[in-house]
Amino acid sequence: MTMSTTAGTVAGAQANPVTGKAAAVEQYNYDIVKKFAIMSLVWGVLGMFAGVWIASELAWPFLNFDVAEITFGRLRPVHTTLVIFGFGGSALFATSYYIVQRTCQARLWGGRWLAEFTFWGWQVGVGAGVLLYMMGFTQGREYAEFVWPLDIAITVVWVAYFLVFTMTLVKRSQPHIYVANWFFMAFILATALLHIFNNLAVPVSFTSLESYSLFSGVQDAMTQWWYGHNAVGFFLTAAFLGMMYYFVPKQAGRPIYSYRLSIVHFWALSFLYMWVGTHHLHWTAIPDWTSTLAATFSILLLLPSWGGMINGVMTLSGAWDKLRTDPIILFMITSLSFYGMSTFEGPLMSLKSVNALSHYTDWTVGHVHSGALGWVAMITFGSFYHLIPRLWGVAKGMHSTKLIYVHFWLATIGIVLYISSLWVAGIGQGLMLRAFDEYGNLGYTFIETVTFMHLPYVVRAIGGMFFLAGIILMVYNVYMTIAGAKRSVEVDVTARSAAVAR
Ligand code: HEM
Ligand code: HEM
Repeated sequence: MTMSTTAGTVAGAQANPVTGKAAAVEQYNYDIVKKFAIMSLVWGVLGMFAGVWIASELAWPFLNFDVAEITFGRLRPVHTTLVIFGFGGSALFATSYYIVQRTCQARLWGGRWLAEFTFWGWQVGVGAGVLLYMMGFTQGREYAEFVWPLDIAITVVWVAYFLVFTMTLVKRSQPHIYVANWFFMAFILATALLHIFNNLAVPVSFTSLESYSLFSGVQDAMTQWWYGHNAVGFFLTAAFLGMMYYFVPKQAGRPIYSYRLSIVHFWALSFLYMWVGTHHLHWTAIPDWTSTLAATFSILLLLPSWGGMINGVMTLSGAWDKLRTDPIILFMITSLSFYGMSTFEGPLMSLKSVNALSHYTDWTVGHVHSGALGWVAMITFGSFYHLIPRLWGVAKGMHSTKLIYVHFWLATIGIVLYISSLWVAGIGQGLMLRAFDEYGNLGYTFIETVTFMHLPYVVRAIGGMFFLAGIILMVYNVYMTIAGAKRSVEVDVTARSAAVAR
């Protein structure tokens, strides 16, 4: 069987256990996986640079330089869009396209062009979105800031993605649908539902790109946070669990600890996430029972989340020695630990009494990043270190194992600095805002809380720099791996032509 550098072949076309027929040998579409993986890293560097920049602006406000385009308010959605949709989204396209082909032993449905369309559509959407934010065009809904023409375009791209993914499942040559695909399917369907309903709006201008939401008042806020939390639940969690369920067993060289637990994890997670959005709106004008409902379901979410975490961690049982020799496993186990930690902290913060302190403070931002950096980014890094050499056919793995270790430590130290400084900033700020003197007057002025938070903000910015330095090293390592692969193909071709000439 030949090994192409641009397209993989169906490894050892096995007989279908149901039909008894041998699976057709056809080439996988790896080109699209490579493109998405590279763009994920490009957006990752830009998005994390934007993150470090805005973190620095909060510590040293002169960094605004009085330029409207780079003020905090405009760069913040640039950061969140680049990291969530650019880095995270492209990583999910790459890994879902890879996993669905490998586990179904089928090439992506829709020919080359439909998958290409999803690639260009997604990249242009993310790029245009962030440029427009810098110019001041935004819909003003968190994580859904895209203006209405982009919302329509993204819907079309997403439908194409849905078709490519599901139709590949339909034409699979294996009877079984591996659980990772279930998570990807839930992510694709839920994101479609959320995106469409949260963006139902009446466009009012082609020049200012303004639109008005179909919902108003409390309903509008509840729809937005139903979207907002399920973006966390399905985009930043379920889909990355799909990644975890494929790459952790692969890298550990062992089957998943409990397949049954993964199915229970899937259904419980999908059912519970949909109800928790209003925990973002505690102590506001929403009906009190919706707050209680959201808090109850948030607490229940601890169970499937920890079930999934334990399933991932236990997959390593019997292979613990690998922690000493394999830095990719280190990334994976650390990401699972942060998944466990952030899904413990989240339910805690959803309690109304805790939320009264944490909401409007940096504790929330710290929680976000223990999930986003610790879980989302770390599982992506680990999976990419496994995937990249395989995509480019480099048998010896990444260019430098030592650099993977350096990346791991830079990232881990960065996260610890980030979240611990924001626990100090957030809990301190919350306590200061609630302090009263014996006459019932506020104990602290607002500016005193700002002064208090300066030092933690500096530490957070330094933590961000560590994390950014880590991904830059990764880009170098990936570049050298790909360049090495190309060189060895050239050497191979030259050697073969020399042999033919002889
Ligand atoms: C170098 C790494 C990073 C740094 C320094 C950084 C920094 C920041 C800063 C300063 C904010 C604004 C906080 C505020 O409004 O007070 C922010 C918000 C946010 N970032 Fe990051 N970030 C980084 C990486 C990431 C990654 C990888 C993700 C997602 C995968 C992410 C997701 C978010 C989200 C969702 C918010 C909004 C938080 C909220 O509304 O509470 N960030 N980030
Ligand atoms: C069982 C799981 C989880 C629960 C119950 C949960 C709960 C919460 C709560 C109560 C808040 C604060 C809401 C507020 O005061 O406004 C919050 C904020 C947030 N969480 Fe979680 N969380 C969970 C897991 C995660 C994970 C794994 C991630 C990231 C991958 C994450 C990302 C976020 C984001 C982005 C926000 C900030 C939204 C904003 O205000 O802009 N959460 N979460």
